[in-house]
Amino acid sequence: MIVVPADAMVVLVGIAGSGKSTFALAHFAPTEILSSDVFRAIVADDEADQSASEAAFALLHAALEARLARGRLSVVDATNVEEWGRRQLLEIAHRRTRPAVAIVLDLPVEVCLARLGLRVRRPVPPHAVRRQHRELRRWLPTLGDEGFESVSVIGSEEGVDAATIQRARRLSADSAMSRRNRARHDDARSSDRHRNA
Ligand code: CTP
Ligand code: MG
Repeated sequence: MIVVPADAMVVLVGIAGSGKSTFALAHFAPTEILSSDVFRAIVADDEADQSASEAAFALLHAALEARLARGRLSVVDATNVEEWGRRQLLEIAHRRTRPAVAIVLDLPVEVCLARLGLRVRRPVPPHAVRRQHRELRRWLPTLGDEGFESVSVIGSEEGVDAATIQRARRLSADSAMSRRNRARHDDARSSDRHRNA
């Protein structure tokens, strides 16, 4: 059972074909899911158009921040195998004083390649999948040090099928207060944050 605070940012981490989008749809409401593919389609009418990634992620980040500002649980459905990409997400969650949890779908690369071979929609070249896998493996040991409240690593198809999500209640008024104080402390250091608060 994976416990997810009700106002959390949930970061899915996994290579292409690991089943992030399938997992997201199985466990979260469609409006809670922010998918990089959907935002590529929004800017380029083509969810596979990698040249649209920068604009797509700018929109994804804006949507994420708007939702987290309102305390709406938000699931980031993108590969998120690169540390700098996760850092951008963690900065947004921190700015909005929301907890961040990571769910890693760490399936064997051969399973993912086989699934992608059967997927008609949006092919992903195998060399790109293997590169993502190397990146994931490289960062997996230190993922817990990046700033996530919890990191859940699911290592098999059976594990993915058996996974359940438990939504925890929002933090108590006391901890909400201390989080607000922490936010004020941050504001004192950054007028930019104050403007966006
Ligand atoms: N799939 C499957 N069994 C699962 C999960 C997914 O057979 N338990 C299949 C899906 O139907 C899809 C493929 O595997 O054809 C990849 O799943 P998807 O959810 O699209 O993977 P993502 O991680 O979202 O891939 P991408 O990063 O390319 O979006
Ligand atoms: Mg997907």
